[in-house]
Amino acid sequence: MTRFALVGAGARAGMFVRALTDHAGVAQLVALADTNPARLAVHNRRLEDLGRKPVPAYDAADFTEMLRRERVDVVVVTTVDRYHEQYLVAAMEAGCDAVTEKPMTVDAASCRRILETSRRTGRSVRVTFNYRYNPLHEAVKRELRQIGEIGSVHFEWLLDVRHGADYFRRWHRDKANSGGLLVHKAGHHFDLVNWWLDDGPDQVFAAGRLFFYGEQGRRHGYARDYDRAHGAAAAEGDPFALRMADEPAMRELYLRAEQHDGYLRDRNVFAPGVTIEDDMAVLVRYARGASMSYHLTAYAPWEGYRVMFNGSRGRLELEVVETDHVAPASAAGVKGEPGSLSTAERGWRRLLIRPFWAPPREIEVDGYSRQGHGGADVRMLADLVRPDPPADPLGRSADAVAGARALLTGLAANESLATGQAVRVHDLLDLEELS
Ligand SMILES: NC(=O)c1ccc[n+]([C@@H]2O[C@H](COP(=O)([O-])OP(=O)(O)OC[C@H]3O[C@@H](n4cnc5c(N)ncnc54)[C@H](O)[C@@H]3O)[C@@H](O)[C@H]2O)c1
Repeated sequence: MTRFALVGAGARAGMFVRALTDHAGVAQLVALADTNPARLAVHNRRLEDLGRKPVPAYDAADFTEMLRRERVDVVVVTTVDRYHEQYLVAAMEAGCDAVTEKPMTVDAASCRRILETSRRTGRSVRVTFNYRYNPLHEAVKRELRQIGEIGSVHFEWLLDVRHGADYFRRWHRDKANSGGLLVHKAGHHFDLVNWWLDDGPDQVFAAGRLFFYGEQGRRHGYARDYDRAHGAAAAEGDPFALRMADEPAMRELYLRAEQHDGYLRDRNVFAPGVTIEDDMAVLVRYARGASMSYHLTAYAPWEGYRVMFNGSRGRLELEVVETDHVAPASAAGVKGEPGSLSTAERGWRRLLIRPFWAPPREIEVDGYSRQGHGGADVRMLADLVRPDPPADPLGRSADAVAGARALLTGLAANESLATGQAVRVHDLLDLEELS
């Protein structure tokens, strides 16, 4: 029986807590830690609702003591991104393996410390790149060989005005916490491309800005005059205002926990203090020669993505519309929360191989779901939690080096935004030396 502890008892933690109860025959959640006692209590109440006993709840300051006292084997890190590194390093120093939410961390110095600690202690870090486990993305990995050698990739990702807006309401809006969306969000996409191409970034150039949200975005005419939505008359009817009081999970995880740390989950997306971008273009040259043009937009009317591969034997095209619009009634919801998807919002997907001199061929993909990141989360959790995971012929499991490689594309893009120059990834961190 593997003994797991989790640090960072927010929304995402719920998925891991549930998974550990689902796999209770082989895995056991033995402790939780967070800086906020109210959120710790929420997860323990949920455990009781699932018919389990509550587990010891620790203040995050006693993390190392928790590992010792509870004889922890594996730590799951689901804190705010900027704190991942301190827990990953402390866990490995204490002899534990670690599983961390993406991004592995938010800067090159802390990435180096994670890799060095892993190498020195012999402990592992796995990064939960759940997008790899999406059946459509697995199909891309399998089918890419049909189009020969890859010359280039064209990748566009759209976050709609519900999901995209959510990064501008809370801690992600400060680049120091999240690394900005090039690290926090695009890291998923950069990892997919590294994995699909079996390659890594060499040189990166980026252009981007805060265009739609923040104080700069007020000129577009959507901004209302309030700082946080809860209790603000001006937030009534605002499609960007999160209504926490109406939603039980939001109420207990955030509204009733504010008194302990002042964490506001529902800030006005146009309020001052946003230091991240919402519109980003990136050009990447990969080590083996392919190139990628990438765009991330966080204020789109619909949500989904298009990724196109140009190959020596044709083209592979994946188009996914997760939601074709945001229905007004569910505009203020949070993606992934129960009831957040309106039935009026439609989705579709298409995976095509376009050989030369022949009609396009559609690839049918089973197992896709509109919940849990395309059905990826459940599949990934079985892989992470079980000592006898399902076979992984596609190599979906991501280690610390894969975590670093995805992160480095985003960090290099951030550096390029700051300097206006193309950035050699090697100048940020030498992965050869560290892996
Ligand atoms: N892979 C995915 O699809 C996916 C989806 C959602 C979130 N995530 C990741 O999960 C992580 C958590 O995101 P979330 O949405 O649950 O955020 P959240 O704000 O709901 O939870 C973050 C938790 O971290 C705690 N925390 C803050 N500072 C801390 C510290 N110094 N020490 C210990 N705990 C601290 C907070 O109290 C809070 O409970 C992030 O890294 C995010 O990138 C991944």
